[in-house]
Amino acid sequence: MMPGIQSAEASRQADLLDRAGRYLAGGGLGLFVLPPDVNLVIAEGRGSHVIDVSGRDFIDYHLGSGPALLGHAHPEIVEAVQRQVAKGSTYYFLNEPVIRLAQRLVEAIPCADQVHFTGSGTEATFFALRLARAATGRQKVLKFEGGWHGMHDYALWGTVPPRPSSYPDAEPDSRGIPDALRGQVLVAPFNDTGRAVELIDRHAHELAAVLVEPLERVLVPVPGFLEALRDATRRHGIVLIFDEVVTGFRIAWGGAQERYGVIPDLATYGKAMSGGFPMAAIAGRRDLMAHLDARRTDRSHLVWASGTLNGNPVSASAGYAALDVLSRPGAFGHLHRIGGRLRREIAAAGARHGFAVQTPGEDAVWGVRFTDRTPLRTWEDLLTADKELNLRWSVELLKRGILVNPNEKFYISLAHTDADVDRTLEACDAAFAAMRA
Ligand SMILES: Cc1ncc(COP(=O)(O)O)c(C=O)c1O
Repeated sequence: MMPGIQSAEASRQADLLDRAGRYLAGGGLGLFVLPPDVNLVIAEGRGSHVIDVSGRDFIDYHLGSGPALLGHAHPEIVEAVQRQVAKGSTYYFLNEPVIRLAQRLVEAIPCADQVHFTGSGTEATFFALRLARAATGRQKVLKFEGGWHGMHDYALWGTVPPRPSSYPDAEPDSRGIPDALRGQVLVAPFNDTGRAVELIDRHAHELAAVLVEPLERVLVPVPGFLEALRDATRRHGIVLIFDEVVTGFRIAWGGAQERYGVIPDLATYGKAMSGGFPMAAIAGRRDLMAHLDARRTDRSHLVWASGTLNGNPVSASAGYAALDVLSRPGAFGHLHRIGGRLRREIAAAGARHGFAVQTPGEDAVWGVRFTDRTPLRTWEDLLTADKELNLRWSVELLKRGILVNPNEKFYISLAHTDADVDRTLEACDAAFAAMRA
């Protein structure tokens, strides 16, 4: 092709991006928009790869922000969905796929006697907090600085503060959060066990719930931290909620509860749980879940957590098929092996090129952070990372066919191969070299 002349596919992609800019708010789908020189429109996902409209092939480490844990278009999920969709896509009433998935979740999730389905992770954490208020008769909730629990008004406090908060006060992350909620959501420093327990003890009389991502983005809990939250909440009758939307069925079959050996009262699930289809869940103890039971009491005494698509049979079929594949021997070993190799070798490549690069997290989900602060334990530690450098490096990766979300996470799938890792490491090395040049 002559320089300056675009292929028909590249023109089509440019035209689509132009139309996205005109018709979609912000030209994208939310907070996340790639820089214009590397922006793309995905045409297709196959296993660990995606192909954009211009025909370029990428190894995908974003996996739809986590749901495609089996890789894209896994044949068993495609088959399960096709079988169900031909029989109708939503009923509102009970259906077999959703009952089968509920049983599978209860059998797998350590804290679960029962589950309740929702449409998204945001709804799951939102309703879990409502459940905790109903169960305790208290109003306030405590979350952790840097913890991500979706987009509702109680979640968006101290999620990505530019500087450490004046605990337990925090600022809202978004505009449009009601002022009336100031002081309703308390924020504590993640992995600061003494401070967190002190805040829980001090506010126990008004706390309905402590909500935590057990692996907070890329920060692994320090030994004793989750155990201390468990003890303090149990002592005060506060509902401990693990947000396992990312960790569930990813860092172990039993999620963070199995990996870190701490069992909460409630847990929220999404992403991997529904095989790339829209569905999420709250799982928990029978006495807490009973607050959702419309047979038990009249509606005015219930926790309302209904939704038109809550028991969607297509999503449930996808989720059941995904969990079936994940339950087979070797699945988690594969994620650890592929992710572990990438984490070690990317950090080493950074060092070879003179960059202080770390890869915190668990092997199935981790991040790349440009910082010499060690160990990385708190949000304050993460604030030392150079985001501009990370963005430049990520853009170099995108140019070399590696799909990443800058400054966020690398998600590993069952479909990533050693050949993918070899190609990724070559691209990483070249990206570091390009930055040095
Ligand atoms: C830990 C965690 N909780 C909740 C959510 C919200 O889930 P959703 O995007 O399905 O609303 C997310 C989304 O990324 C998440 O990472």
